[in-house]
Amino acid sequence: MNSLGARAGQIIRQRRSLLACDGRTSIPAECFYGMLARVLPRVELPVARRPMPWDAIPWDPAIHFGLFVHRVEGIEPGLYALARDPGKVEKLKECMHAHFAWQAPPGCPGSLPLYLLERGDARQLAAQVSCRQEIAGEGAFSLGMIAEYQASLAAHGPSFYRRMFWEAGLIGQVLYLEAEAAGVRSTGIGCFFDDPVHQVFGLKDLAFQSLYHFTVGGYVDDPRLTTLPAYGRRVQARQRGMDRA
Ligand SMILES: Cc1cc2nc3c(=O)[nH]c(=O)nc-3n(C[C@H](O)[C@H](O)[C@H](O)COP(=O)(O)O)c2cc1C
Repeated sequence: MNSLGARAGQIIRQRRSLLACDGRTSIPAECFYGMLARVLPRVELPVARRPMPWDAIPWDPAIHFGLFVHRVEGIEPGLYALARDPGKVEKLKECMHAHFAWQAPPGCPGSLPLYLLERGDARQLAAQVSCRQEIAGEGAFSLGMIAEYQASLAAHGPSFYRRMFWEAGLIGQVLYLEAEAAGVRSTGIGCFFDDPVHQVFGLKDLAFQSLYHFTVGGYVDDPRLTTLPAYGRRVQARQRGMDRA
């Protein structure tokens, strides 16, 4: 196994959800852009050629991000939007508040459809819409996964409702690993108030629907929890087997 593979294995086994944010740690803008680039499925490619794990999802992305940016160095705090399909920027613009700025943040790669919507301190707002959970406001950034809802259900049928959640879950897995690899941590947030989220971004009808939230930031360990090595028993059993051989 090469060193990259070994490091990936380590990151996958050690990743934990953050239970509390330290309210201090920031991440560089390059790191932020890198994490977001990893959730882009690259829709211009045929599905089988898309970067892993998006080659495992046989449909074009239905989920975009409404972001609450708090502590990213070189970027103004505020509300941002990421279109995971660059062709959907105009649709998002049409459905969100008319006064939003839609400005590319400084240093943002041209290939990343990330836009500043409104500058300002969004820490309290982010926590409020996430059932008042501090982790949404005390990290580097948090986000709502906003699905193209009505059009997707009309196009693919009711079973696509479940697929939107599969897509949201896969995005979460990618962000968990990206955060861990960057030395911060993240947590999926299933408890949020969808109507207030829609109000924040100006979403009025069923064109878009917030499905899942996520937060990334510096973490505080909870000493009441014990972390055991992942697959520890299997590793020990294998070692015992090898010892006998
Ligand atoms: C669908 C889903 C929703 C979650 N919602 C929340 C949440 O609202 N608040 C929270 O603090 N953690 C939330 N979590 C994180 C779980 O608490 C966490 O995954 C669990 O404690 C397991 O920890 P681990 O990821 O370190 O193994 C959620 C996780 C998932 C998968």
